[in-house]
Amino acid sequence: MTHIKTSRIKKITPLRLQLNQWRLAGESIAFVPTMGNLHAGHLQLVSAAKAHADRVVISIFVNPTQFGENEDFASYPRTLDADIEKLQALAVDIVFIPSAEEIYPSSAITEVRVSEVSDNYCGAARPGHFNGVATVVCKLFNIVQPDSAFFGEKDFQQLTVIRAMVADLNSPVEILSVPTFREPDGLAMSSRNGFLTTQERNQAAQLYQSLLKAKQAILNKQLTYSAIENEAIQELKKQGFETDYFSISRRCDLHAATIEDTQLIILLATRLGKTRLIDNIQLDIL
Ligand code: PAJ
Repeated sequence: MTHIKTSRIKKITPLRLQLNQWRLAGESIAFVPTMGNLHAGHLQLVSAAKAHADRVVISIFVNPTQFGENEDFASYPRTLDADIEKLQALAVDIVFIPSAEEIYPSSAITEVRVSEVSDNYCGAARPGHFNGVATVVCKLFNIVQPDSAFFGEKDFQQLTVIRAMVADLNSPVEILSVPTFREPDGLAMSSRNGFLTTQERNQAAQLYQSLLKAKQAILNKQLTYSAIENEAIQELKKQGFETDYFSISRRCDLHAATIEDTQLIILLATRLGKTRLIDNIQLDIL
């Protein structure tokens, strides 16, 4: 039984005081940024962080700047008490829960924009989304100054944006990624799954099946990549999904893959009813 108590900290100054003490004592700090409504996928990141560092800080902040005007910022699930119980059980050291004013004082005039890898896929469907993500993650890195930070491969484009930002800005944070954690039927865990009706929730398992099918088709080498993509989009449409993109891409820079590329990722975003779902699967051509 562990006796570590998870501290809830809302302000930057006391957070920095505590972190400085640990740093002076030579302890390493891992950081897991989240928007809360924690599920088993988030907790995989926390466990990986615990295994990697002496101290773990998680942030819970529903970041307004990464939501578009007609998106689900207001209805995004906020379940702080239940989240803290889960973090307590994993002996997380600090949960940082800033207000919007703490993160975005009205005087702020700086934004971080990572070009190219932000522009396609979710960036095209959600203009400004990745500027909001890059800006808040950059700020959180400067506030926490962690040695390492953990991100899920479920949001692979986000991970690519963060890796580019850290490289380009010489940020001294090691970025580590954790594979997508799935429900038993294959649906990637997501805070947005809670928006699905029972029927939609059952249908949603088809997304992972469509990725597995496309992966197999690539490995069979009989169809072109665009034929595989189009077939997947048509099949998903028959099952009630409106697809934003279904793309066979190369993992390094998310450009459309050619048959010369060996490290691939299939990325998808679809709408089922009112809910937007994303997923991806990686594969290597040997
Ligand atoms: P959020 O959606 O809460 O996700 C927090 C982290 O958990 C992200 O790195 C995400 O990729 C990871 N994650 C979510 N579902 C997962 C799953 N099924 N398996 C593995 N990892 C999963 O992503 C954000 O918040 C925000 O954009 C944030 C980075 C916090 C910036 O505001």
